[in-house]
Amino acid sequence: MKHEIAISTPENLEEIWPGSYNLFSWLDYVVNIPQPIFIITTRKENGAPNACLHAWGFLVGDRDNYTSILGVMDSTHTYANILREGEWCLNYPSLDDYQKCFETIHVNEAGNDEISEAGLTVEATQVIRAPRIAECQVNIECRLEWSRPLVENSQWHLMAGRVVHVAMDDQALAVDPAKKMTNMRLMYNIRGTINPISGEIYGPNSLGLISEVVKAFDQGANGQ
Ligand SMILES: Cc1cc2nc3c(=O)[nH]c(=O)nc-3n(C[C@H](O)[C@H](O)[C@H](O)COP(=O)(O)O)c2cc1C
Repeated sequence: MKHEIAISTPENLEEIWPGSYNLFSWLDYVVNIPQPIFIITTRKENGAPNACLHAWGFLVGDRDNYTSILGVMDSTHTYANILREGEWCLNYPSLDDYQKCFETIHVNEAGNDEISEAGLTVEATQVIRAPRIAECQVNIECRLEWSRPLVENSQWHLMAGRVVHVAMDDQALAVDPAKKMTNMRLMYNIRGTINPISGEIYGPNSLGLISEVVKAFDQGANGQ
């Protein structure tokens, strides 16, 4: 049976954590479509590497306009760094570096090297000044094109950056999609969950692998 779900936040909805439905729409916990985890690396004002664990963004674009779109909170260092430096790098970590990825949140200070302090390795970029993370099999260097609030007075901002360089490990270049996904071991952000019909809440956030790739198109189909 399919349910039609009212979009406004229910009154007296139990908070998963303080402010959970201010920072994120309660619908994000209801819909809960997994998004791939990446780390945004930027350059701090003193030149040190900044690392921000992230799930809110995607890649889109025609011909030479491949573009990273990010949803960024304006309270983060990442937001300020991108506005000042005009650059960022997307780094896609594997489940093997789960703990180190979360450590980036705990070493979030003003002038420190967050990549090294989280136990990861700084790697030089090719085109931009922001650093890369060596352990990540895919690094995508981006230059800011535009930034705007999601809606008026929102703490969320959309930032679009043209992809200016890509680096990929042999493992991530496997052409068989199942092999490629197995090699990359990408993590997905799976939220705490709300069932709006029963009122049931499962609080903790999870990270998980998408472990099965089904070949939906016949051999030879172009897959558009
Ligand atoms: C799966 C996931 C979990 C996160 N958990 C936290 C968290 O527990 N605490 C936090 O402050 N930010 C969390 N974030 C958000 C950012 O990683 C965090 O705001 C980041 O430390 C900001 O870094 P910056 O100030 O250097 O830009 C999480 C992000 C993701 C994708």
